[in-house]
Amino acid sequence: MISPSAVHIDPDKCSGCGRCLRVCPDRTLALREGRAVVAGRDCIACGHCAAVCPESAVRVEAADTDLHFSTFAEERDWLPWGRYDLAGLVRLMRSRRSCRNYTPQPVSRAMLEDLVKIGATAPSGTNSQGWTFTILDRRDQVVALGGMVASFYRRLNKKAANPLLRFVARIFMQDALGRYYRRYYSSVDQGLREWDEGGGDRLFHNATAVILVGSRPWASCPAEDALLATQNMLLAAHAMGLGTCLIGFAVEAIKRNGAIKRALDIPAEETVYSVIALGYPAEAYQKVTGRKKILPRFPENLAG
Ligand SMILES: Cc1cc2nc3c(=O)[nH]c(=O)nc-3n(C[C@H](O)[C@H](O)[C@H](O)COP(=O)(O)O)c2cc1C
Repeated sequence: MISPSAVHIDPDKCSGCGRCLRVCPDRTLALREGRAVVAGRDCIACGHCAAVCPESAVRVEAADTDLHFSTFAEERDWLPWGRYDLAGLVRLMRSRRSCRNYTPQPVSRAMLEDLVKIGATAPSGTNSQGWTFTILDRRDQVVALGGMVASFYRRLNKKAANPLLRFVARIFMQDALGRYYRRYYSSVDQGLREWDEGGGDRLFHNATAVILVGSRPWASCPAEDALLATQNMLLAAHAMGLGTCLIGFAVEAIKRNGAIKRALDIPAEETVYSVIALGYPAEAYQKVTGRKKILPRFPENLAG
């Protein structure tokens, strides 16, 4: 929330059309004597009022830090409903695949910075924008993070290999260790061996960059905010010529080992919700694939 005093309405420009009132989610504005005025006590600084005003009479201080991109020529005009190439959008969505083979070419800092700005165009609960982005733009940093994540899984695999600990965990931890053992132990063990022998990077797939997306604790919907920003970035990366892969294994290690966060300069109170491996893809695909059949629900018993 910001103070409504951050909303400025120029009475000379305002025509009193009332559009700003209709789009305001917080009833911050009212019409008085044919002009819009700030009347409410709350404002989430979403900037809808400024965006909808045909006279450019409204300015919202907190929303005025505009995003500028340096690696592509942006189109700044608002795109009206229904005017986008839907087929192209869906093709982009279906063409984005998790990339597990990268070339050694580094990704420029400018591209990574543009990507996180694209992430920040996502919606966020009460417009809190509490997301955080930590960027590793060098392969040696990715390898260093991989080393810390590998140490975490080495310890976890050691515990999971112990039948007594698995038995105790079955009683006290709803079999979490047993489930991990059955599902991941062998592949993690194999991956760790390859890592130790310098024979492969099954964790980050030789990615040259990593972006960690987190949220600050005061955000009203921290996980959702971070993941929506993440999806924006995955799609935009494809359009930029970059491959991406979400690395859930790294998220889990970071969640459970504060030392990794400290090494990344991520404050203890922040939670990391996604780790995105990125780089220039070394493989191209011939076609898109399908998904499991979806059976949407139409609740018939719900009636007014
Ligand atoms: C939350 C989440 C965590 C994931 N973690 C990993 C991971 O640790 N390693 C990996 O190679 N892929 C990981 N993936 C990628 C999925 O395996 C992939 O999205 C899925 O197989 C569908 O393939 P697609 O992304 O190519 O469409 C993850 C995906 C999600 C959504």
